[in-house]
Amino acid sequence: MNAKQMAGYEAATYVKDGMTVGIGTGSTAHFLIEKLGQRVAEEGLDIRCVSTSIESTEYAESLGIPLLDTNDALELDICIDGVDEVDPAFNGIKGGGGALFREKVVAMSAKYNIWICDDSKLVQKIGAFGLPIEVSPFGYKHVVRKLEEAGFVPKLRMKGKDIYMTNNHNYILDTNYDNTKFCTDYKAMERFLKGMLGIVETGFFLNTTDLIISAGSEVITTIKNPNK
Ligand code: A5P
Repeated sequence: MNAKQMAGYEAATYVKDGMTVGIGTGSTAHFLIEKLGQRVAEEGLDIRCVSTSIESTEYAESLGIPLLDTNDALELDICIDGVDEVDPAFNGIKGGGGALFREKVVAMSAKYNIWICDDSKLVQKIGAFGLPIEVSPFGYKHVVRKLEEAGFVPKLRMKGKDIYMTNNHNYILDTNYDNTKFCTDYKAMERFLKGMLGIVETGFFLNTTDLIISAGSEVITTIKNPNK
């Protein structure tokens, strides 16, 4: 079993009968969904899930996992998702797979959040790959210009020769923030970005998770967030 599978399978043990469950997106969440599908089929696990992407919806449906729309499940018992980077203060960046907006909506509706990852995601400082920022296609170049004026270096995400499009039909700007005035004040940076016309959501997930389940080649580590 590889590390992502170990983390995903371990997280599936936190899901109990009767729960409403947010299911994340990405290669680690894939294993969570796989295990939940097995449990539904073999144990008759009685759950209702809310998905964070079309990809996860299709996979969950193929395994017979009952799904709800997020608008019909305003409070979830638990949400389990992957993460791109997380620092010791539980500041996370998500959106490598482009699902950040739906992931944030679902995570915010959950009473308890778990992130699953391999150990490479645990870093001292977040931002090495840039911050994914979801923007409206209409007028996105105005956003690019305003970001650049503030010292950010946004790069439009591509998929081959085409512009990458999120499930919400928006674009993503993978954005370096090393030379902005914000340094590591991620809260202030988030406020600045969220105040900008055209920005739908950022990939900052600051102090949102309750627990991290991280796996190495053999060992699974669980890290509780002391601030939650
Ligand atoms: C999806 O947009 C992301 O937030 C993923 O949750 C994140 O990129 C982790 O993905 P992996 O589990 O594939 O590393």
